[in-house]
Order: sequence, then structure tokens, then C-alpha cells
Amino acid sequence: MALYSEKVMDHFMHPRNVGTIDGADGVGEVGNAKCGDIMKIYLKIENDIIEDVKFETFGCGSAIASSSMATEMIKGKSIHEALELTNKAVAEALDGLPAHKMHCSVLAEEAIKNALKDYFDKNNIPYDHEKFEEMDHEQLHAQVHGE
Ligand code: FES
Repeated sequence: MALYSEKVMDHFMHPRNVGTIDGADGVGEVGNAKCGDIMKIYLKIENDIIEDVKFETFGCGSAIASSSMATEMIKGKSIHEALELTNKAVAEALDGLPAHKMHCSVLAEEAIKNALKDYFDKNNIPYDHEKFEEMDHEQLHAQVHGE
């Protein structure tokens, strides 16, 4: 069996939504301390809808495929739906990732959450801090333990 699904290969070879957005309403950047990969997400938001989303990923194929798929999954959706996107859902949409590559999809979830948090902060929009606590904890854990 091939290590990577056809969908992973397709999104890796032909990533959707690569680039940046001038004057983005929210920008989120996360890094994985262990592999050094970095992902940056740009959001254009109007009336609570994600009108446009772009990404830059300096990372492995799985991280690129995950960012590509994740941006496709939140484009045109409400910010609330985007907040609910999990790395598991991204991996499932890619028809799976090898177990040792699941952490790459976590970058996509966290980068999107970071970008949304940036949008909320910039616009003084109150949000449920609990939604971000888990992420902060994970990031801290990654930094401390180099995972
Ligand atoms: Fe670093 Fe995939 S190996 S994100």
C-alpha cells in the first residue's frame, strides 16, 4: 500500500490557496519545534464569513497537503465553523495520513485558530478563551519537549 493517499499527493503536488493576502483580517503562524516546519495562514473575513484564505508553508509534504486541504475546508465558511475544524477532520479529508505524520496536520488546525484569534483580538471581539487554551498548552508542550 502506498504510504500517502492520492489526495495527499494531489494536494502536495498542486496545493490550493498558496500565497499571502494583503491587508489580511487575521494572520496566524505556528511552528513545530522538532522538525522546524512553519505554517502561516492569512484570512480575509467579511460579515463573519471567510471570504478568502491563503497559506505559506515551509515544511514537509504532509504539512503542505494539510494546509491546502484545510484552507479548502474553511473557505466560504463562517468563522465559527472554521474554529471547529480539527486536524483529524483535515487528515480524514485527505483519506488519512501515516501515524507519524499526524502532527503535521495539527499545524494546519493551530495556524487557522491563531489567525482567527488574531482577527478577534484586532477587532475586540470577545471569544471563548477555552477554545484556545488547549492549543496554547500543546504549543507549550511542544516547545518544552521539542515535539
Ligand atoms: Fe514537520 Fe511534517 S515533518 S510538519
